[in-house]
Amino acid sequence: MTEQDFIPKPYTNEISNGKTSWKSPSNIALVKYWGKKDGQIPANPSISFTLDNCTTTTNLKFTKLVKSVEDYSFDIWLEGKLKIDFKPKIATFFKRIENYLPFLKEYHFTIETSNSFPHSSGIASSASGMSALALCLMDIERLLNPSMIDDYFIQKASFLARLGSGSAARSIEGPIVQWGMHKDTEGSSDLIGIKYPFNVHEVFKNYCDTILLVDKGQKQVSSTVGHDLMHNHPFAKQRFSQAHKNLSKFKNIFAEGNLKEFIKIVESEALTLHAMMMTSHPYFMLMKPNTLEIINKIWAFRVQSKTHVCFTLDAGANVHLLYPESEKSIIDQFIKNELVAYCENGQYICDQIGFGAKKA
Ligand code: PMV
Repeated sequence: MTEQDFIPKPYTNEISNGKTSWKSPSNIALVKYWGKKDGQIPANPSISFTLDNCTTTTNLKFTKLVKSVEDYSFDIWLEGKLKIDFKPKIATFFKRIENYLPFLKEYHFTIETSNSFPHSSGIASSASGMSALALCLMDIERLLNPSMIDDYFIQKASFLARLGSGSAARSIEGPIVQWGMHKDTEGSSDLIGIKYPFNVHEVFKNYCDTILLVDKGQKQVSSTVGHDLMHNHPFAKQRFSQAHKNLSKFKNIFAEGNLKEFIKIVESEALTLHAMMMTSHPYFMLMKPNTLEIINKIWAFRVQSKTHVCFTLDAGANVHLLYPESEKSIIDQFIKNELVAYCENGQYICDQIGFGAKKA
């Protein structure tokens, strides 16, 4: 697969206007993507659970312009409010994907988007948001080229979403998605996310993710800056090779349902991601005191309760608690008794593994 595969042949149909809508989930990485090459190519492969409740819904209306425009013609609304400050991000996205969607300058777009999770919860909406927008745009391309097959639709949606936000490549399908080339995974690619092709044990069915909202403020350092700091990072080479090795280990972990090993790698990946931030130049830290309090509580509770709860982190202070469905009631109690106190305004979100984006 190459980028060329996503440059369309001349369209066979014409369409003057219409609307479409997609609901896309967020995802949580188990092996983290941190560091990239030009063109949103990941420095190492990553793997994630697709979530179910944390979603973005995007409605896209499109009207053919009398004359195609030099710049892009669009408005973007978030939860009913016109968001002029979102325009540069979308314009950058359109510029990156224009080669692959030549109709972009021929239409006016009205993009209405809303998230299922509270606004400014510290949960990044870029993965679900870019996925939903990419899928809506693919709907238009399918109208222009009705012979498009489903596989191509899904692959190209992931390809486009990746160009909006790397991790968005993993927010099209579910329940487990790998993005990035890896020697053991046939069909894996730096260009798109693919459904994890190997056996996955029953214990991972409906696996739970409770997101503890530790800090809902704006991050001090964006992912874009963080990825960039992996260039010339003193530990980059080892980190990228470690990610490849960790991904290999998941093959047995998933097949056997080996939760002990799962926990070891997932927690190590989370701490390594943050260790990369703390050892880059300039260095920075996104964890907050309550992030560490929660991690220590989890470790103590795991020993005492003999459950399999573990944590992972995104590029932020919030903590994702991962655990099998069979332990839901005991972990619920643990959250209420011991962890809520460390969440901003006592807020947390209950989620679980999901199956990918749906037409809304
Ligand atoms: O998709 P981006 O560029 O916002 O990067 C996301 C990176 C992490 O969330 C920290 C890790 C990952 O693999 O999702």
